[in-house]
Amino acid sequence: MNNKLNVEIRSVTPPEVPAIAALAREIWQATYPGIITQEQIDFMLEQRYGHERLYDDLEDLHKWLDQAFVDGRRIGFAFSEIYKGEFKLDKLYIHPDVQRHGVGGQLIANVAERAKREGYPCVILQVNKRNVNAINSYKKYGFAVRESTVDDIGHGYVMDDYVMEKKL
Ligand SMILES: CC(C)(COP(=O)(O)OP(=O)(O)OC[C@H]1O[C@@H](n2cnc3c(N)ncnc32)[C@H](O)[C@@H]1OP(=O)(O)O)[C@@H](O)C(=O)NCCC(=O)NCCS
Repeated sequence: MNNKLNVEIRSVTPPEVPAIAALAREIWQATYPGIITQEQIDFMLEQRYGHERLYDDLEDLHKWLDQAFVDGRRIGFAFSEIYKGEFKLDKLYIHPDVQRHGVGGQLIANVAERAKREGYPCVILQVNKRNVNAINSYKKYGFAVRESTVDDIGHGYVMDDYVMEKKL
């Protein structure tokens, strides 16, 4: 679908952390079964979206937590960060109800502008090799695969990812 929605993007604040964690769980449950196991989904949600972890992220000067609203409803988020000297789009999740309406594209554009302002030549991201929809959407927004990685994330789990890069 291409009809654009009226999207508002703003920073996450501490009182909104529980809502972001709940939204992440909802979107992950709609995305990752069939790509990774339920056990790995639960492990990664706790690791990345535990409330304490998100409060810490909010205090980190090298991290930006953006959220998107459509008609006042929180429908997605994009987290970006400076990671090993590069500007990284670390998380991008849009609720299934509003996927393919351009919201992801708007959040990517917002992150790319920030990276440019901060003086970085490109934005990178990591995406699961089997997450074909997301890979296609990143290609649509100018990302290309740079390398293939397998990262050990503990407890016997790995992330089997592509690193993608969008030149600015
Ligand atoms: C991937 C994602 C962030 C893209 O955001 P979005 O708002 O849906 O993206 P846009 O509308 O800006 O771009 C849509 C493009 O993404 C791809 N795409 C996104 N969702 C898709 C779906 N459910 N089925 C097929 N293609 C899809 C298509 O290439 C689409 O382009 P098209 O509509 O012109 O064919 C979003 O779909 C999402 O949150 N998906 C689930 C979670 C996820 O995988 N996140 C990325 C983790 S690295």
